Amino acid sequence: MNVSNRIAIVTGAGSGIGAAIAQHLAAANYHVVVVGRRESALRETAAAASQNFSVRPLDVGERDAVERLIESVVAEHGRIDVLVNSAGTNTVDRAAANVPLDEWNRILHVNATGAFNCIQCVIPQMRQQSGGTIINISSVAGRRAISLGGVAYNASKFAMTALGTTVGEEEKENGIRVTNIYPGEVETPILDARPVPVSAEHRARILQPEDVAQAVLLACSLPSRARISELVIVPTTQSFV
Ligand SMILES: NC(=O)c1ccc[n+]([C@@H]2O[C@H](COP(=O)([O-])OP(=O)(O)OC[C@H]3O[C@@H](n4cnc5c(N)ncnc54)[C@H](OP(=O)(O)O)[C@@H]3O)[C@@H](O)[C@H]2O)c1
Repeated sequence: MNVSNRIAIVTGAGSGIGAAIAQHLAAANYHVVVVGRRESALRETAAAASQNFSVRPLDVGERDAVERLIESVVAEHGRIDVLVNSAGTNTVDRAAANVPLDEWNRILHVNATGAFNCIQCVIPQMRQQSGGTIINISSVAGRRAISLGGVAYNASKFAMTALGTTVGEEEKENGIRVTNIYPGEVETPILDARPVPVSAEHRARILQPEDVAQAVLLACSLPSRARISELVIVPTTQSFV
């Protein structure tokens, strides 16, 4: 298939890593459906080449909205080649002793259930077309639970990791390949929710969103016989042991 006919859905595409992934995929001639809650942010992502994008504001935690999205993309384009789950959130007061129950529930609902909603809804279409690539932007916090991320974020990212590996195993004979990407620190707006402010100097030396986008493009552009099941990407200066 000519890559210009390929359709990608990217959640969390209004900022940070998701925005960079959407723009890299569009530059590689995918038509990209950008998803997030703030329409204005999605329109900014799409501004440079709006003909390569469809803007679909929604909350990935709302199952009905996700179902309607997938139905409408299939009705309009006839296929879905790539799903990238990049929507994510955290909270400031994140220690186990402090995090309010409703914040715990919100973080699990967006990061884990939101990804599950999108994955479960695209599987029938990907099975029907005998192929597709699903990419989860998990985190190093989905491999090692450290206090920096906080208890709810860590739990949600471990869930996302398990979701990706389980679906990758279950769907491999159907031609659906799943990649879990585990970024270390990336300079994006999510850092603004850190309990301790992140300095400009630190932000300058960690990963930039386009670094993760390049990893996504690699996973998508390999021949369909090849799957990158897991990929850890951290700043050169960050430990991952
Ligand atoms: N930055 C890092 O250091 C880092 C490291 C490892 C992993 N990650 C992961 O990378 C992913 C992207 O985060 P980021 O760093 O790029 O931060 P970001 O700029 O804050 O991006 C998160 C995006 O998710 C969207 N979002 C949040 N809740 C949503 C919901 N309920 N439904 C739909 N969209 C929602 C937000 O847009 P709206 O508010 O408009 O919905 C926002 O555009 C996240 O899953 C994060 O956990 C980040």
